[in-house]
Amino acid sequence: MNDSKKLAFLGLGVMGYPMAGHLARAGHEVTVYNRSTAKADAWRGEYRGRTARTPAEAARNADIVLMCVGNDDDVRAVANGADGALAGMGRGTILVDHTTASAGVAREVHAAAATKGIGFLDAPVSGGQAGAQNGKLTVMVGGDAETFARAESVLMHYARAVTLMGGPGAGQLTKMVNQICIAGLLQALSEGIDFAMRAGLDAERVLDVIGKGAAQSWQMDNRGRTMAADQFEFGFAVDWMRKDLSICLDEARANGATLPVTAIVDQFYGRIQQRGGGRWDTSSLIRLLRQPS
Ligand SMILES: NC(=O)c1ccc[n+]([C@@H]2O[C@H](COP(=O)([O-])OP(=O)(O)OC[C@H]3O[C@@H](n4cnc5c(N)ncnc54)[C@H](OP(=O)(O)O)[C@@H]3O)[C@@H](O)[C@H]2O)c1
Repeated sequence: MNDSKKLAFLGLGVMGYPMAGHLARAGHEVTVYNRSTAKADAWRGEYRGRTARTPAEAARNADIVLMCVGNDDDVRAVANGADGALAGMGRGTILVDHTTASAGVAREVHAAAATKGIGFLDAPVSGGQAGAQNGKLTVMVGGDAETFARAESVLMHYARAVTLMGGPGAGQLTKMVNQICIAGLLQALSEGIDFAMRAGLDAERVLDVIGKGAAQSWQMDNRGRTMAADQFEFGFAVDWMRKDLSICLDEARANGATLPVTAIVDQFYGRIQQRGGGRWDTSSLIRLLRQPS
């Protein structure tokens, strides 16, 4: 391809592995890094590209470095550690972080990158594992408009929408809104399905009918039937959701927003974790209604 770029992708987890794959398939020169080397070796067996032993090494000749790791501390280590991406990057290059993390860490890394003449975008995603595999993620971005304009076409390889929301941290703030909306919605859906079943209704038929009306939602369409069937292995894990809701609640304390429903749903997820369900998907809230103790 004519506009082939040198790219690096750091963190080949559930999300990063297929995202990096889309970049290689599009014809870019991709170097990947993963902390545990088995995933990087598996990736190189599946796609055309190179592997590196540290984020700095992967980033060394890249025009754009992309990363998707776990939480704030992981972002600091992979972006800004001694062997981190910024240590290997040159002036005029761009670092894009797809991790769901705080707005604070986004501003911190943006400032550290700026001192080296490197652009930084916080760019968390929505759409889950299926969205990453199908290249249909929604990417919400914070950063400078000029940096965004240079990176947008690369992000489009695994996205159906890439939107600049504002300055540094605005992508993470937008992702917080996403998680706040989902938390309350999943509790309401749990209550509705549990009520339907206790009332002796056929839950599938109820979902069919009300899914054509004002109660319809992505969660109802994609998780309603599996919730009724007590199956919770369909994506975003409770452990990750608790990390995200803790970020939302911290931000709300700082900006004065009140999140009463989010706070209580966060406690419900804590009870799911106590029952050993940290890796169940987020629709498992219904378990607390079905088996209250
Ligand atoms: N899964 C989803 O449905 C989903 C949806 C939207 C957003 N997200 C967000 O996307 C991010 C990644 O999620 P995921 O599901 O891909 O997680 P994951 O499968 O657990 O992968 C995490 C990746 O980050 C790496 N990593 C973590 N800490 C690191 C550190 N300190 N140094 C170096 N590498 C580190 C891991 O390396 P190792 O392999 O060595 O452990 C792994 O490659 C999270 O912030 C999550 O909240 C996930």
